[in-house]
Amino acid sequence: MNVIVVKDYQEMSEKAFEIVLKLITEKNNAVLGLATGSSPVGLYQLMVKDHQQNHTSYQDIVTFNLDEYIGLDKHHPQTYYTFMHQNLFDHIDIKPENVHIPNGSASDIEAEAKAYEAALNQAQLDFQLLGIGSNGHIGFNEPYTPFDSVTGVVNLTERTIKDNARFFDNDINKVPTQAISMGIASIMKAKKILVLASGLKKADAIYGMVHGKVDESLPASILQNHNDVTVIIDEQAASKLK
Ligand code: F6R
Repeated sequence: MNVIVVKDYQEMSEKAFEIVLKLITEKNNAVLGLATGSSPVGLYQLMVKDHQQNHTSYQDIVTFNLDEYIGLDKHHPQTYYTFMHQNLFDHIDIKPENVHIPNGSASDIEAEAKAYEAALNQAQLDFQLLGIGSNGHIGFNEPYTPFDSVTGVVNLTERTIKDNARFFDNDINKVPTQAISMGIASIMKAKKILVLASGLKKADAIYGMVHGKVDESLPASILQNHNDVTVIIDEQAASKLK
């Protein structure tokens, strides 16, 4: 694991952008696994700015998002579909047919998850961007998700529901309780992985990911077994590291 400690969120986003820009410059049809949440927003802003100013093209880029809530209409303000379009896709020249986000309102959710996993395996991720939950989750793979899991329906833990309530009027009753998520094995197949984290709330999870035992109680610990992982964290998230 290559751990890079930076001053703050802005610097984290800039370093992440350098990595993404290098990747898409070297391979203009790269397959990128993307994440939602607070951690990648600054990176997406830099990608949009660069596209507008320098015309970096996403014409042949293919994307797969990690996850989506189950039970919300696609255009609900808090779906990851809406998030990705507002923060990135609406502002770059990616082709809509190259964007993949699990459909959390599909009539047959299990079939949707299976089809998503099949599409992922066919496309093969060159890169996967990850945030990390304060409980060490990656994607929506909560503690004790088997390391060999593939894309499927997952239950959110109470802690994740609480963490995400801020996006649902601070009302935990409005937060969906299930999601479709890429599995841990699906994520591990990516050729290159980039983890972003900032803030004290992430410090314990980062410690476990970097120094802890590789154990299903902390899903992100599996990343120790991947041969190309870069972690960019601010000083607060790094504060418990040795
Ligand atoms: C998002 C995702 C989650 C987040 C994680 C951290 O697609 O799968 O695992 O990356 O919950 O979220 P933030 O970045 O909001 O702290």
